[in-house]
Amino acid sequence: MMFPHCDVHDLDGLLWTHVALLSFCAILIVASLNSQLKDAAPYGRHAEPEKTKAWGFPIPQRVGHIISDALPGILFLTMVYLLYAALLPPNGKFSEVRPINLVLLAGWLLHYLYRGILHPLIMPYSSKTVAVGITVAGMFPNLLFSYLIAAQLACTVYPDDWAARPRFIIGVILYAIGTAINRWADLKLRAGRLAMRKHAGQGKVAGCTGSTAAATPSSASTARESLLDADDGEGRVGESRSGSEVVRNTPTQGPRPRGDVRDQYFIPHGGLYELVSCPNYLGELIEWAGYALAVWSWPALAWMLFGLSTFIPRSLTHQRWYREHFGNEYPAKRKALIPFIL
Ligand SMILES: NC(=O)c1ccc[n+]([C@@H]2O[C@H](COP(=O)([O-])OP(=O)(O)OC[C@H]3O[C@@H](n4cnc5c(N)ncnc54)[C@H](OP(=O)(O)O)[C@@H]3O)[C@@H](O)[C@H]2O)c1
Repeated sequence: MMFPHCDVHDLDGLLWTHVALLSFCAILIVASLNSQLKDAAPYGRHAEPEKTKAWGFPIPQRVGHIISDALPGILFLTMVYLLYAALLPPNGKFSEVRPINLVLLAGWLLHYLYRGILHPLIMPYSSKTVAVGITVAGMFPNLLFSYLIAAQLACTVYPDDWAARPRFIIGVILYAIGTAINRWADLKLRAGRLAMRKHAGQGKVAGCTGSTAAATPSSASTARESLLDADDGEGRVGESRSGSEVVRNTPTQGPRPRGDVRDQYFIPHGGLYELVSCPNYLGELIEWAGYALAVWSWPALAWMLFGLSTFIPRSLTHQRWYREHFGNEYPAKRKALIPFIL
């Protein structure tokens, strides 16, 4: 497969730097897939205390995500792009500021503004902290790929009609669809958890400043029961009283022990959640597939594959987790990541 418009190889030394880094990316993709298939990264619902300890001391989860995503995806990316732009020979063919390159750069930045800043600030995480090793493990690939994307975009001269070509147009459409799915799915989880906390009558719902103890197990249980009041007669529950249709769970049988995961988690319903366990990962995958098409470079393709190496194992682990914790209540036909397939 050729990427004919990526002219990195015209610049002395850069080609081999990129070949070496891309080879390393290939190893990283295989290693990430392999390790995460064996063992889920211990954050969120998979953060078992023993495993988490092995990943180092805890740091605030919001800060951790900002460090692992916003620093590389926004700050480092912009610095590398500007540095390359400054280093390129003046009046050379690469040094001109090209709107198409800036649009493609903005696609990356837009994602990281969301993932690196907005998402950590608004999500009501179940835990206040994350192990420092998780932050470092997340930051490393973000640094690597942000460097490669920024360098490649700074050194690529796209044909004048690039924006009118089907590859770019289809890529942008996919990027937009994937972005919309990803944000919708994330926000649906957020709304569901906030609804649970709100009905618990405790917790810092409005500001989402987040706290593990935002809803105590017993109060959250009560909250969930109240969300289940409106059983539609088919074992499914309608809208929560807050008006959110997010929390629609089937009733549980009998009393649950304190600390039940159901106090923090619900079965999401509606839209793509009827088809897959993790539409947020599916959306991000489509987003990066579109980005790879529009950018048409090895780094963008490698980044999409790297996403796949995380989304496949983690969505399978999420799906298994849902089945273990919600049993028959969890829709048996719901796939993990790709509707009707995986
Ligand atoms: N490009 C990449 O390599 C990459 C890798 C990972 C993630 N991401 C992106 O980062 C974002 C977040 O990823 P993630 O792995 O944290 O996603 P996630 O596991 O779906 O969790 C997202 C948030 O929703 C909460 N949540 C999830 N399911 C829930 C449920 N059933 N009931 C109540 N709350 C629920 C989680 O709670 P907890 O606080 O308990 O976890 C967490 O706060 C997504 O947009 C994803 O696409 C990208």
